[in-house]
Parts: sequence; C-alpha cells; structure tokens
Amino acid sequence: MIRPKGNLVSISLLQMAKSNMEISAILSLGLFSLLLRIRIDVEASQHGIEYVQYQVPESQPYRTAYHFQSPMNWLNDPNGPMYHEGVYHLFYQYNPYGAVFGDSMIWAHSVSYDLINWVHLDHAIEPSDPFDINSCWSGSATILPGNKPAILYTGIDANNYQVQNLAFPKNLSDPFLRVWEKYTQNPVITPPSTVDALNFRDPTTAWQGEDGKWRVIVGARNGHEGMAILYQSEDFVNWTVHLSPFYRSDSTGIWECPDFYPVSINSTNGVDTSVHNPSVKHVMKASFQVNWHDCYVLGTYDPEKENFIPEDDFTGTNLDLRFDYGKFYASKTFFDPAKNRRILWAWVNESDSSQDDIEKGWAGLQSIPRQVWLDKSGKQLIQWPIEEIDKLRDKQVSINGKELISGSIFEVSGITASQADVEVSFELPELESAELIDPTRVDAQLLCSEENASSLGIIGPFGLLVLAAKDLAEQTAIFFRVYKAQNRYIGLMCSDQSRSSLRNELDKTTYGAFFRIDPNLKKISLRSLIDHSIVESFGEEGRIAITSRVYPLLAIDKEAYLYAFNNGTLNVGISKLNAWSMKKTQFDDEQSFSYSLE
Ligand SMILES: *[C@@H]1O[C@H](CO)[C@@H](O)[C@H](O)[C@H]1NC(C)=O
Ligand SMILES: *[C@@H]1O[C@H](CO)[C@@H](O)[C@H](O)[C@H]1NC(C)=O
Ligand SMILES: *[C@@H]1O[C@H](CO)[C@@H](O)[C@H](O)[C@H]1NC(C)=O
Ligand SMILES: *[C@@H]1O[C@H](CO)[C@@H](O)[C@H](O)[C@H]1NC(C)=O
Ligand SMILES: *[C@@H]1O[C@H](CO)[C@@H](O)[C@H](O)[C@H]1NC(C)=O
Ligand SMILES: *[C@@H]1O[C@H](CO)[C@@H](O)[C@H](O)[C@H]1NC(C)=O
Repeated sequence: MIRPKGNLVSISLLQMAKSNMEISAILSLGLFSLLLRIRIDVEASQHGIEYVQYQVPESQPYRTAYHFQSPMNWLNDPNGPMYHEGVYHLFYQYNPYGAVFGDSMIWAHSVSYDLINWVHLDHAIEPSDPFDINSCWSGSATILPGNKPAILYTGIDANNYQVQNLAFPKNLSDPFLRVWEKYTQNPVITPPSTVDALNFRDPTTAWQGEDGKWRVIVGARNGHEGMAILYQSEDFVNWTVHLSPFYRSDSTGIWECPDFYPVSINSTNGVDTSVHNPSVKHVMKASFQVNWHDCYVLGTYDPEKENFIPEDDFTGTNLDLRFDYGKFYASKTFFDPAKNRRILWAWVNESDSSQDDIEKGWAGLQSIPRQVWLDKSGKQLIQWPIEEIDKLRDKQVSINGKELISGSIFEVSGITASQADVEVSFELPELESAELIDPTRVDAQLLCSEENASSLGIIGPFGLLVLAAKDLAEQTAIFFRVYKAQNRYIGLMCSDQSRSSLRNELDKTTYGAFFRIDPNLKKISLRSLIDHSIVESFGEEGRIAITSRVYPLLAIDKEAYLYAFNNGTLNVGISKLNAWSMKKTQFDDEQSFSYSLE
C-alpha cells in the first residue's frame, strides 16, 4: 500500500492507526528534531480516507549514501537475488507498516542494471491466501530452462505453520518482472513430521542433477538440532522429501537462510548452482539464530547418497568460519552469468534501539554486494566488494612509504571521511618480538575488547580511526595486532565500537577475528567502506570481513575525520594508502526512473 514517490510517501490513516507509534514518534522528534523537515498534507481521498504525506528526512546523519536501503521502514533478509535478461533483481524482507519487524512481512522488489543504482518497484509478494496469510518470509530464485525464473518462499500459513510456496512472473516479456503470480496449488512443501512446524523455512536456490531432477534444501530444527532437509522434484511443482537430513548439526538450533553452492577450486570465477564436477567444492552456509552468526563449512556433495560431507563440521561455537565477524546475517548468494561470478548479499541490522529506528523512520541495510570465491588454500572463502563499487570513487588522496611511528597518529585529510573507501597496506616490523598467545584458548572477539586500541602492545594495535571526531571524543578503530603462537604468527583484526558514539545506550560490541600471517610477506592489508553509519572492513584482501554499525553524534558528515594510528611499541610502515570520497548511488521509483541500459 505504501508507494514511494521520490521522497514523498503516502500513508492511509488506517495504516497510521497501525503504525501510530512510529508517526507520533516522528512528530515528537526526539533526537532528530533539528534534522527533520516534515511536510504534512492532508487530503481527502475518493473513499473519504484521509492521507497524510510526509517526507522521510533527507538530512538524517545515519542514512547511507551507497548502501542499499528501502525508502523507509524496516528491512531484513535479502531474498531471491538473481540476474535475468540484463537486469539484477533484489527482493527483500520488508515491513510496510513501520520501522520494526512486523507480523505481516512482504517481499519488496528492486531492480538494477549495475548493482549500484536501483529502481524500487511495487511489492512482489504479499500475504493473500491461507498458505501465506500471516507473512511471506525468505526464499530464493531459481532460473528454470527457457530462462524462466521461479521463486520458492516461506509462507506463514493460517495455523502459523511454515510452508514453502511457489511464485512465477506473470509476464516474462516485462523486463523488470514486476508482477508475480502465486502457484494455485500452494503450498508445494509442508513441514515433515520430523521437524518443528514453526521452524521450517527459507528454501535455497534449487539445483538440477544429472538425472534432470531438481533439488532444494530448507532450513529446519528439531530441539537443539539444526538441519537442512532435501527435497527433489521432476517438475519443480511436486516435491518429495528425502528421508535423511542433507546435513545436520547437534547444537546449532534452527538453520535460517541456508545457502548451498559450488565454488571452483582453481578460479575466482563463480559457477552456476547446478554445476557438479571435479573442479568444484561445495559451500554450506547457515544462519544460526542462537547467536545471529552466518557460518559456513566447505565439503563435498554426494548426489548418489544425496548428502553433504563437510571437511569440518559446524561446532556451534566461535570457531566456526564466518563470512563476516560483525553485523551480517541471513546472507544469500546468486550466480551472475553476465560476469561469471558469485555474489553475496546480507542483511546488516541496526545497533541502536527500536525507538531510535522508529524516530529515524527506517531500520536495516543490505551489505555491499561481495564477490565470493575459494581461497588458494582451499580452506576458506574470500570476499571482495564487487568491482562496480570502484565506479563510485571520486576525489582521491594517496600516501606512499610513510612510517607509522610508535604512539603516533595522523590525519588522512582531503576526502569526505563520512562517505569513503580506504585501502591501506601496512608493512610489519621483525615479527620475533611479537607477544605470545595460544589462539586455541582465546576468543578473538573478547581479546579485541580487552586489548583494545588504547591498550598498548608491541606489534599493534595499529590501523585506522574512522568516523572520528576532530578531538577523537568519538572514533571507531579498525585495527590489527600481531601475536606469536607455537611455530606461527597470528594476526588479530578488530573493529572497536566502544568509543564510536557519545550516546551510551547503543550496542557497542567490539568484533574481532584471528588470521594467519605469512612471515615471509610481513604485511597486512585493509580496505574499509565507510558510509555514515556503517563500516564494512576487509582484512588481508578479503580473508576476514567485519561489518559495524555506528551512530556518532559529533563525527557526522563534514565533521567526520579519518586517522591512522599506531599504539604498538614497534614502528609500522604504511607502504601505500589510497582513500577516495564516494559518490552517492541513485535510488528511483518507477515514475522518476530515467537512466537506461549502458
Ligand atoms: C508484457 O510486458 C510487455 C513489455 O513490457 C508489454 O508490452 C505487454 O503488454 C505485457 N503483456 C501483458 C499481458 O501485460
Ligand atoms: C509426485 O512425485 C512423486 C515422486 O516422483 C510421484 O510418485 C507422484 O506420483 C507425483 N505426484 C504427482 C501428483 O504428480
Ligand atoms: C581446474 O581443475 C580441474 C580439475 O583438476 C581441471 O580439470 C581444470 O582444467 C582446471 N581449470 C583451470 C582453469 O585451471
Ligand atoms: C538487531 O539489532 C537490535 C538492536 O541492537 C537487537 O536488539 C536485535 O537483537 C538485532 N537482531 C538481529 C537479528 O541481529
Ligand atoms: C581498553 O583496555 C584497557 C586495558 O585493558 C582498559 O583499561 C580500558 O578500559 C579499555 N577501554 C575500553 C574503552 O574498553
Ligand atoms: C593510544 O594509547 C593512548 C594511551 O593509552 C590512548 O590515550 C589513545 O587513545 C590510544 N589511541 C587509540 C587510537 O586508541
């Protein structure tokens, strides 16, 4: 019902009644009163319903410039990302009635030619029938033969059970596939008796075996046990459950948004989800609701036994491999045949309160789309922001061959530090004197908060201070420390939010992860994408990623600064630093949609 028109949004008073709290909060304007420019028009509709129009404030300090956001309201999981006939589609979980999670979730729909500039379309899938009347939850798209997309999604049915439904585009000649029709015989999959019917959701992109049959997995739970249940179909409509779980784990709880796909063992190129040959391994990702972590294991898919054999099992602990060690959940990949790559999207939650979100009028971002591929070691994935992001780079500053002296700090000036892309390569001193550690007995995240940027070390802490106030009263430190373990060197990458804002009531958890250091190279690289209230950082060329949400009071817009610092006793070199101001991406609705295919 809420149709964005530029920044102008109409809401019926009936819906206002539903979202009364939000509106009154927006009108009462706690923190944002100076920033809001509200226009209220009351007009009578044909049916005598009054419409209030207001403008989502443009000058909000925490709205992002180049991350995907909805025009307003609550957003969570990315759904059904796909590429179809020259157009990228992103659907996402959306609450049309407010800036908090809701009990009538829908699939919003946006399209793009370049994964950067987007057009927001009408909602694609909304509750309508007994099989999804209580919400249309997450799911995935599969491109069927003849280039026909199909969507499998979770419906919350009239009994509040979770069932899987099918939808198809109404008009395949419409380049944006605006209208989606639900299959009349929905649901196509109902919960098997072996799982909890209230925790059975998020079908993956399906893959086709050599026998021509389609396979899809659905996340499920039985007590503390988490699992992926496999279904097979000849025609994509009639699905048969495979009796033993595709893969399961004792202590992880429900697996939300499972993702299962092949990765090349010797190329950074992605491959289609149905590819199965000796040059691929498989990735199994699950989102663990118990700790809000997106974890993955690598392994082998056995189409004969119809199961997945991991190289290392999920542990349900902090030792599991993660895409991102910060705020990053419900991720999903798709294969992009236009550029032969696999792209990862994820929901990035807020770290402020629901009341803050109601005042802002929105909550939730999508991560920068990341290309994923298998590391040369074969033991983990690498992620890197898609190359299209580089097109947003504007004014550049460069620093070459600078010594970061022990205890020093210097400003990287000349760019818009609240909206920037920073790449830096640090040169390490001799490693022998590094502090000792036993990484198997220490939790990296805990270590990052104890050995924070202000506690002195030997090699490190050194790194960047982003979204920092001029007097450093606010700062988010993205930093490294180097440790010596038995026979090897270990790096620790941290994102320290403890001093990110003068506001106290925020979630300021510090995040961190370990990585291996090659003693022959003696360098560490970092790229941080800074965008007003989000910092996405990639260490070691994409081996480690950490995403943070921060809400400074002082370090906003032109009052945000960027620094490099070293609080270790040994000097560190900056062999190369490049920083760019970033341009804003374009978000249009269909009416104002103007740009065309390149
Ligand atoms: C399907 O989409 C095409 C392209 O937008 C349009 O010309 C055609 O009229 C549509 N067909 C129907 C039945 O809506
Ligand atoms: C559905 O598929 C199963 C297994 O292939 C088959 O036994 C059954 O007859 C099919 N049902 C329908 C309605 O096609
Ligand atoms: C990748 O490895 C597979 C299996 O070893 C081999 O057949 C293929 O030629 C390799 N491809 C490249 C690009 O090296
Ligand atoms: C999202 O963030 C809010 C505020 O920090 C928190 O209460 C909530 O648990 C988070 N949800 C998820 C899924 O991360
Ligand atoms: C940083 O660590 C030092 C030393 O452990 C501690 O005294 C200080 O309180 C910590 N600072 C923050 C902001 O957590
Ligand atoms: C470096 O250490 C000093 C002394 O502990 C501290 O005042 C300063 O805040 C630290 N720098 C950073 C960036 O944490």
